[in-house]
This record gives sequence, structure tokens and C-alpha cells, in this order.
Amino acid sequence: MKFTPHKYIAVAGILLSSSSIVQSQCPDFTEYSASPQGNPSNGTLGLPLMRPVPACRTFNSSAVEQVIDDMNARLKDPDVARLFENTFPNTLDTTVKYFNETENLAFIITGDITAQWLRDTGNQFAQYRSIYNLDSNLAALARAVINIEARYITQYPYCSAFQPPPESNLPATVNAPAIDVIVNPPVDNQTVFECKYEIDSLCSFLKLSTTYYNETKDASIMNDQWFLAIDQIFQVINNQSQASWDENFNFISYYNWTGSPGSLSNSPEVNNGGNGEPKAYTGMVGTHHRPSDDLSTFAFLTSGNAMLTVELNNLAAMLDSAGLAVNISQSAKEWSSKINESIWRHALVNGVFAYETNGYGGRYFMDDANVPSLLSLPYLGFLEMDSPAYVATRQVLLSRQNPYFAAGQNFSGISGPHVDAWNPWPMSQISAIFGTDNDDEILQSLYLIVNNTDGLGLIHEWVSIYNESDYTRTWFAWANSYFSEMILDLAERKPYLIFTENASYVPGQ
Ligand SMILES: *[C@@H]1O[C@H](CO)[C@@H](O)[C@H](O)[C@H]1NC(C)=O
Ligand SMILES: *[C@@H]1O[C@H](CO)[C@@H](O)[C@H](O)[C@H]1NC(C)=O
Ligand SMILES: *[C@@H]1O[C@H](CO)[C@@H](O)[C@H](O)[C@H]1NC(C)=O
Ligand SMILES: *[C@@H]1O[C@H](CO)[C@@H](O)[C@H](O)[C@H]1NC(C)=O
Ligand SMILES: *[C@@H]1O[C@H](CO)[C@@H](O)[C@H](O)[C@H]1NC(C)=O
Ligand SMILES: *[C@@H]1O[C@H](CO)[C@@H](O)[C@H](O)[C@H]1NC(C)=O
Ligand SMILES: *[C@@H]1O[C@H](CO)[C@@H](O)[C@H](O)[C@H]1NC(C)=O
Ligand SMILES: *[C@@H]1O[C@H](CO)[C@@H](O)[C@H](O)[C@H]1NC(C)=O
Ligand SMILES: *[C@@H]1O[C@H](CO)[C@@H](O)[C@H](O)[C@H]1NC(C)=O
Ligand SMILES: *[C@@H]1O[C@H](CO)[C@@H](O)[C@H](O)[C@H]1NC(C)=O
Ligand SMILES: *[C@@H]1O[C@H](CO)[C@@H](O)[C@H](O)[C@H]1NC(C)=O
Ligand SMILES: *[C@@H]1O[C@H](CO)[C@@H](O)[C@H](O)[C@H]1NC(C)=O
Repeated sequence: MKFTPHKYIAVAGILLSSSSIVQSQCPDFTEYSASPQGNPSNGTLGLPLMRPVPACRTFNSSAVEQVIDDMNARLKDPDVARLFENTFPNTLDTTVKYFNETENLAFIITGDITAQWLRDTGNQFAQYRSIYNLDSNLAALARAVINIEARYITQYPYCSAFQPPPESNLPATVNAPAIDVIVNPPVDNQTVFECKYEIDSLCSFLKLSTTYYNETKDASIMNDQWFLAIDQIFQVINNQSQASWDENFNFISYYNWTGSPGSLSNSPEVNNGGNGEPKAYTGMVGTHHRPSDDLSTFAFLTSGNAMLTVELNNLAAMLDSAGLAVNISQSAKEWSSKINESIWRHALVNGVFAYETNGYGGRYFMDDANVPSLLSLPYLGFLEMDSPAYVATRQVLLSRQNPYFAAGQNFSGISGPHVDAWNPWPMSQISAIFGTDNDDEILQSLYLIVNNTDGLGLIHEWVSIYNESDYTRTWFAWANSYFSEMILDLAERKPYLIFTENASYVPGQ
């Protein structure tokens, strides 16, 4: 059936008033988000309300509605307010495909792709951390996400995206590009959607756990399943920090991945038996793919290791606070400082961080659009925004010295080889805001984002510098979540920039 958005709204209104609408009658949000829906804002851009009608929302939270009301009452630009209103609830409105509190299981999709990415969920929930204590159902949902991910990681510590749990009775989604991929250890495609080994996926699970615990002090997430997952994470850290060659020139490989020619549109066959470029020992942990899901050029991703350093510290703090697993806490602290030291020793070259290194002197200077990236190092908690190394690196990243920086008439930012060099991502401008204290820079980045939703009021994956109407992914929950998290950060640290009154706002305080 062909779906016509405006007609649907009328229908939904009628059904709603008789309270009889069911989820199966709701429009696919991919189509819904591709054209303007509800009333326009009163701002110059007249951005539409893009939330699904209440009956079609996948999770309701009164605390989320309260934050939206609070922000609407304070934000001075109605376009920014509308963007916040659309983006902050986007994860709950559209991506909770399954939730059963008794089973302690949930299935959260990324948006327009029906699979759960470990990396995306960590970010899709980051903007809710301050309200877990205000909404026990939302806290239960976060626990269920942590628990299903502990199960996934226990089974497949090297995989990045997953299928619904069998308990949900939801069908697995066929991932056509993964079908001819050869991956070791092998995977079952009823459980795994895509098995790309990305160190930041594991960091994302740790971040979800540590932020949840930090806010709630609820130690129940640290169940047997969770400890099994933590065990696997330490095995990955241990194994993937090893050099490719041992002393007898045996080639060490715990994970390898390759497509046969043509099986993956964005990947050539991977050299060295699916291992990629060899790495020497540095103290950092290697990865196979980037946060963009692209193949790594060199194994040691600086930003991924930075995130790991931070999250291992947070893990240790969480275990210590709960009085649990002293041995894991000890290991976490040791690895954190080893990795940290190695980043500063190997990845910082002439005062500027390289994106990737291989321990042989190979360095790749660039940045990728999403997170963890070099531009997002302060957001990740790895360093302060006034750290000389960050200031110097940031200057390079936001200039012609970064091969993936591009500027057009209306939009600019950092892109990456995942799409094309001339298609920067709004997400890079969000990272830029998290990394500066300069009001002019913040407003410049903010309005580059606000001005470039093509009138749709949602954050897209990328926008062409040649044509602001050329973009992808109108339904991308991570980007929406990251935008709203950034607005909440400004509400706390720079209220005068976005509010009518100069008073900080923190949800629930
Ligand atoms: C826009 O302004 C009108 C008139 O002041 C007001 O009634 C309406 O609620 C406003 N709409 C939004 C979305 O703020
Ligand atoms: C959310 O609330 C609406 C009513 O406001 C209801 O129709 C809908 O079923 C609720 N969604 C869920 C997932 O409970
Ligand atoms: C949740 O799971 C339990 C145990 O499998 C089941 O008994 C219950 O019916 C489920 N609840 C819902 C709302 O599906
Ligand atoms: C799993 O792999 C088989 C064999 O390649 C394929 O036929 C099937 O469609 C795949 N299923 C899913 C859900 O990816
Ligand atoms: C690929 O990884 C598996 C372990 O998962 C290993 O046994 C095998 O030797 C590796 N193959 C290559 C070519 O590195
Ligand atoms: C824990 O919460 C405090 C207070 O909200 C915050 O300052 C700190 O950054 C949080 N730490 C983590 C690991 O989330
Ligand atoms: C790590 O290496 C050990 C010992 O070689 C092996 O038994 C284990 O399966 C590996 N685990 C991972 C996650 O690579
Ligand atoms: C901590 O100790 C437990 C139980 O003795 C063990 O299973 C686990 O592997 C240890 N973890 C680490 C990171 O040392
Ligand atoms: C990394 O090490 C430096 C120098 O010892 C320290 O100041 C910094 O806090 C460490 N970073 C993290 C994230 O632990
Ligand atoms: C955003 O658009 C407004 C109105 O068209 C314009 O004045 C402003 O310069 C733009 N801001 C940026 C950063 O492009
Ligand atoms: C920039 O914005 C103007 C005004 O909306 C529009 O006419 C022009 O086509 C845009 N340029 C690009 C390259 O998108
Ligand atoms: C800009 O992109 C849109 C969407 O792809 C397309 O319809 C339009 O023709 C493009 N405009 C130009 C001038 O190429």
C-alpha cells in the first residue's frame, strides 16, 4: 500500500479520538520522516512537528514530556525548540521494537535499519541519563537494553549489530551485504545482523552500564549475564592488543573478516586473509572497523582507544562503588592507564593526534564524521577542551589540512570515506560544539545544523555541500539523540546562548 503522509494524519486523528489505533496501522517512520508533518514552528524556518501521533509512539515517558515542556518554555528560538522537541524523544517515539520488563529484554532499532547496533544504542539513550530517576519505566527499559546486549556480547564479542531476541517472536532482518561475508569466528545470522569488530561497540555497552549505574546506583544490572559479557570484553582487549606477528613469525588472528568480490558495496576484499594491515604491539587495542562501519586503514583507532580508556575508568569506579569484583576493577584500571599512556606516546605526532596508527610508524591524519572521533575527544571525557593537544588537533580537523573537511555555500563539516568527501555530517558539528567554550563558534555550528534539515526538523546522516536538499537518513535516531544531548549540555553550561533567561537547566533538578 502506498502511504500518503498528510492523508494519514487525518485518518490517525479520527482513529485516535476513538482510541482504537493499533501499531500496525501506524506509518513507517522512514516514509513519515521524509516529508513535513505537523504544524510548523513559529521560527523563521517554520520547522514541522515530526513526532508520531501518540498512539504510534513505541514508548511513553512522562519525564520525557516534562523535559520537552520545560525546554519549550525556555528556548528563545522556536526553530531550535522544535528541533529539540522532535529529536529528544525520537528513540522512544520510534525505535523501541520490543520491551518486556519481566524478561528484562528489549530490542532497539537504529531508525531506518531494523537491527540493534551496540554503538547506536549507547548514544540513543545518552540524552535520557538524567531522567532515569524520574521515570522507573524508562530505567527498566535501559536495564533491558543493557541485559540483551550482555547476552549478545557474551555470545558474539566481535559483532556490532544484532537481530531481535527469540523471545520477541520478531523476524530476523536479512542483511544482504553480509550474506557473502566470511567472518571468523563464524556467526549465526538469526542472532547477528552484522559482525564487524569495532572496539567502540564494546565501549558503548560499558558507557550505557556506567552512566545508568552512576545515575541510579542500581547494582541489579551487574547480573551473571553482565559479568560474562565483561569477561568477554577483557578477552577482546587482551587478544586484540597483541602484535600480528609472534616471535616465531606466526600470524596471530582471533578475528578476521572478508567479503568475496562484490559482496559488499563499500568494501574491497580484505588483505592478509581478512586481517588487514599488520599491527605492532603498542599497548592500545586494535580494531577492524571504524565507528562508521568502514574498514580501518590501521588497527589502532585513537578515538576508540580514548573512549576505552575513559570507560574502563568508569567501569572500575562503578565496581568499586558497588563493592563488587575487585579483580575486574583492578584490571580495568591497569588497562586504562596502559592504553592512555600508549595513545599519548604513539598517536600524538608533532602535537596533533593521528586518527589511526599501526605501531610501525604508520599514521593516518584525518577524522571521520561520527563518534568516537578526534573532534569528540572532550565529549568522550578523554581530555579537556583547552588541552593544547586538542586545540591543535581541532584546528587541523576543521581546516583544509583534514582531507575530509569540506565547506559549501550553506553547510560545512567533516565527512568521511563512508559516503563521499563532499558530504559532511551534522554530527561532526555537534561534536564541534561539545569541544569549544567559544560562544561564536557554538552558535555558528548550531545554526549550520538548524538551517540544514531541508525543512524536515530532524537530523540527517549527511548533507551535500553542493546541494542542501541532497542528504540521507531522515530517520537516524543516533543523530537525533546526539543533537538533543548537545542542546541539554548547552542548557546547563551556556543557558544565555539559547534561553530567554540566563539560568541553567538540568532535567530533574
Ligand atoms: C505560534 O504562535 C501562536 C501565536 O502567538 C501561538 O498560538 C502558537 O501556540 C505558537 N506555536 C508554537 C508551536 O509555538
Ligand atoms: C503511548 O500512549 C498512547 C496514548 O497517549 C497510547 O495510545 C500508546 O499505545 C502508548 N504507547 C505504548 C507503547 O504504550
Ligand atoms: C513478558 O514475558 C513474560 C515471560 O515470558 C510473559 O509471561 C508475559 O506475558 C510477557 N508480557 C508481555 C506484556 O508480553
Ligand atoms: C542467513 O543466511 C542464509 C544463507 O546465506 C540466507 O539464505 C538467509 O537469508 C540469511 N538470513 C538472514 C536473516 O540474514
Ligand atoms: C581467522 O580467525 C580464526 C579464529 O577466529 C583463526 O582460527 C584463523 O586462523 C584466522 N585466519 C586467518 C587467515 O588469519
Ligand atoms: C556521574 O555523575 C556525576 C554527577 O551527575 C557526573 O559529574 C559524572 O560525570 C558522572 N560520571 C559518569 C561516569 O557518568
Ligand atoms: C582470546 O584468546 C584466547 C586464548 O588464545 C582464546 O581462548 C579466546 O577464545 C580468545 N577470545 C577472544 C574474544 O578473542
Ligand atoms: C575475575 O575473577 C573471576 C572469578 O574469579 C574470573 O572469572 C574473571 O575472569 C576475573 N576477571 C578479570 C578481568 O580478571
Ligand atoms: C591519561 O593520563 C594523563 C596523564 O597521566 C591523565 O592526566 C589523564 O587523566 C588520563 N586520562 C584518562 C582518561 O584516564
Ligand atoms: C542560518 O540561516 C539564517 C537565515 O537564513 C542566516 O541568517 C544565518 O546566517 C544562517 N546561519 C548559518 C550558520 O549558516
Ligand atoms: C543555499 O541556500 C539558498 C537559500 O536557501 C539556496 O537558494 C541555495 O540553493 C543553497 N545552496 C546550496 C549549495 O545548497
Ligand atoms: C538537489 O538534490 C535534490 C535531492 O536529491 C534533487 O532533487 C535536486 O534536483 C538537486 N538540485 C540540484 C540543483 O542538483
